[in-house]
Amino acid sequence: MAAALTVLLIGCLLQTALCGQFKTIIPKTIEVLSGSCVTIPCSFHVETGFNSNIDETCRALWKSDLQTVVFDSSNSQSNTIQGELKGDLTRKDCSTTLNNMRPEHSKEYFLRVECNNFRHSFVDQKLHIAVTDVPPSPTLTPSTLKVEEGTSVSLKCSAPAPCLSHPPALTWSSSLGHIQESLQENQDRTKVQTSVLTFTASRLHHGKEISCTAVYKKQDGSSQSNSTSLTADISCELICLLLKFIIILHIIFDLLSVFIYLFSLSLNEVIDS
Ligand SMILES: *[C@@H]1O[C@H](CO)[C@@H](O)[C@H](O)[C@H]1NC(C)=O
Repeated sequence: MAAALTVLLIGCLLQTALCGQFKTIIPKTIEVLSGSCVTIPCSFHVETGFNSNIDETCRALWKSDLQTVVFDSSNSQSNTIQGELKGDLTRKDCSTTLNNMRPEHSKEYFLRVECNNFRHSFVDQKLHIAVTDVPPSPTLTPSTLKVEEGTSVSLKCSAPAPCLSHPPALTWSSSLGHIQESLQENQDRTKVQTSVLTFTASRLHHGKEISCTAVYKKQDGSSQSNSTSLTADISCELICLLLKFIIILHIIFDLLSVFIYLFSLSLNEVIDS
């Protein structure tokens, strides 16, 4: 009897672990600039027996608490937050874009899926959307630059890109070298815009400020920016030191020869007289 119960229990545990359970896969938190949109990467799982109930009749709702629906994919006009379901619910993709986010929308949200033969609120996974007044500063990697002259340098600038239709534009303070831009994905499937600047460090860069600016265009057409910078510390390597040494020697010899010439002139005068 006890053994049968154990088998049953293990069977259940295995079933929930292996065969799926009610769950959404969403980021824990997303920061978005006020007046911008946010695209929530989202997918969901249901217990195995319910898979066939997920069909074309399904709609996605985003709720901030059990009573409050802020977005309903079947009812785009009267939503508190305007937006668009981007994913295909029959493929359990609930990715959603919410537009024109405002500071008062800074809350935790969870997904609800409603179909003819299925209804479920995924309250165990919540997404915190933080709406900020200022754009985040981009990240420079490495954050300091101390290299020898002649070294090939790669600086990476990255900035979160929560609104896929308006990714930030990244610009460098001066066109030092080759620039390669790309949109990359974090582990939680949020996006980040990156720009890699590659150049060969030269004496001319020493003490120069290199900065990366992220310009966020908002949905009303205005834009806001933030930047991060570092000061290049380019040191003289052996060849450069040798060169300096030779130049100094050269100057000393030149001075010496002038002295010798002048000395010989005065010597001649002494002899002549
Ligand atoms: C830039 O970002 C930092 C935090 O990342 C913030 O404290 C600062 O106010 C921002 N500056 C501007 C000009 O938006």
